[in-house]
Amino acid sequence: MSMKEPVLLKRVGKMKNPASVEEYRQLGGFSAIQKAIEIGKDQILNEVDTANLRGRGGAAYPAGRKWRQLFAIEEGPKYIVCNADEGEPGTFKDKVLLAEDPLSVIEGMLVAGYLFDSPEGFIYIRGEYRAIQKVFQEAIDNACAAGLLGTDILGVKGFDYTIAVVSGAGAYVCGENSALLNSVEGKAGRPRVKPPHLAEVGLYSQPTLVNNVETFACIPVILNIGGQAFLEMGTEDGGGTKLVCLSGHIKNRGTYEVPLGTPLADLLYSEEYGGGTSSGRPVKFLHLGGQSGPLAFPEQLDGLYSYQGLADKGLAVGSGAIVVLDDSVSLVEYSKKVLEFFVHESCGKCTPCRIGTTRALELLDDFASDKAKAEDIDNLDTMLANINGLSACGLGQAAGVAVRTAIKHRKEEFSSAARG
Ligand SMILES: Cc1cc2nc3c(=O)[nH]c(=O)nc-3n(C[C@H](O)[C@H](O)[C@H](O)COP(=O)(O)O)c2cc1C
Ligand code: SF4
Repeated sequence: MSMKEPVLLKRVGKMKNPASVEEYRQLGGFSAIQKAIEIGKDQILNEVDTANLRGRGGAAYPAGRKWRQLFAIEEGPKYIVCNADEGEPGTFKDKVLLAEDPLSVIEGMLVAGYLFDSPEGFIYIRGEYRAIQKVFQEAIDNACAAGLLGTDILGVKGFDYTIAVVSGAGAYVCGENSALLNSVEGKAGRPRVKPPHLAEVGLYSQPTLVNNVETFACIPVILNIGGQAFLEMGTEDGGGTKLVCLSGHIKNRGTYEVPLGTPLADLLYSEEYGGGTSSGRPVKFLHLGGQSGPLAFPEQLDGLYSYQGLADKGLAVGSGAIVVLDDSVSLVEYSKKVLEFFVHESCGKCTPCRIGTTRALELLDDFASDKAKAEDIDNLDTMLANINGLSACGLGQAAGVAVRTAIKHRKEEFSSAARG
């Protein structure tokens, strides 16, 4: 399956000034919010449901379900938050939308603002994306000047809504939705205990919607083409296209818009996408969905790039990152790098994550320095399983995923690094 006509990246590279409301309008922009107002709130929810849009931030939670949960809550005000932290290593797709089509993200947030009668939306943009923050602010200012943000938007009495840019603080954990809200509130960016869920007690303790940049950018597409057409662009278990980031030992690195359901091997080897390894050496493994995701080995690459297709192989779409590693890479060394990342990024709130990742890294160091014993492979696996099972948030719960898949599929590489 190939991507003949992109729907998410269709304006990218086509505007002189991506923050210009006029140019965005000329390329079909702001027709979705108009349509949303015409069809009404129940129909907006129906379209998002029909589209089977799975959250693009990593957890793949159905957006329609999340929106209905918030809609059912009677108390307010409700806040809309866009997660633009993009801290997942190997992931650089949100920045394309933020920098090159920011008004599509604003339009998605505007639809949510209308649906939930929200007074204010917030976008939490990764601190390192300083130049992008400026572009996004300019797009907000232009939307305000054009009457698309502010009061009585598009002539609808009482449709009063603004969007504020908040700069991220440079910590991976701040991408976790509750840590992000704490950070927006000016508190330390540490995850909250859940429940209560953010739909009930979110930003400033109010009901809150948190969605990823790409998820919001899909909303105008869904309203413009219809939920059913969006669904049919992908697969039953997840509609639409997905932005995929190819990096590592791959010839054509970059961000691609890919219909969900494309063969995974096409993403790696076809000239339209990856074009094979940059070195010409064989693929040894992939790291899918960011550091929190599993490793995939050549015998697992014959399926489809879809939520279910990957799940059937024990894999995951996650954020859309695909890091390709050729056979020059040592799995033990790679595993060390992954754990170093988690040791560095653990917020320290809970013991299994704070201490456990450090102990697991020490054990991996033993494999790398010829000090490990054969039984240490199982010790390492058990330690990582415990960290995953006992940690309070998604960071600790995913810290061991990649290394455990390495042990599961290539135990012999760890055995040959062990002494006896
Ligand atoms: C440690 C950690 C980091 C995360 N980083 C991000 C991120 O950078 N961007 C993002 O959209 N979601 C991130 N998430 C997922 C969010 O918690 C949340 O599921 C997401 O923003 C919901 O939006 P979606 O349903 O549209 O995917 C992260 C989760 C964890 C546990
Ligand atoms: S699992 Fe790790 S990152 Fe998450 S709250 Fe616990 S210590 Fe912090």
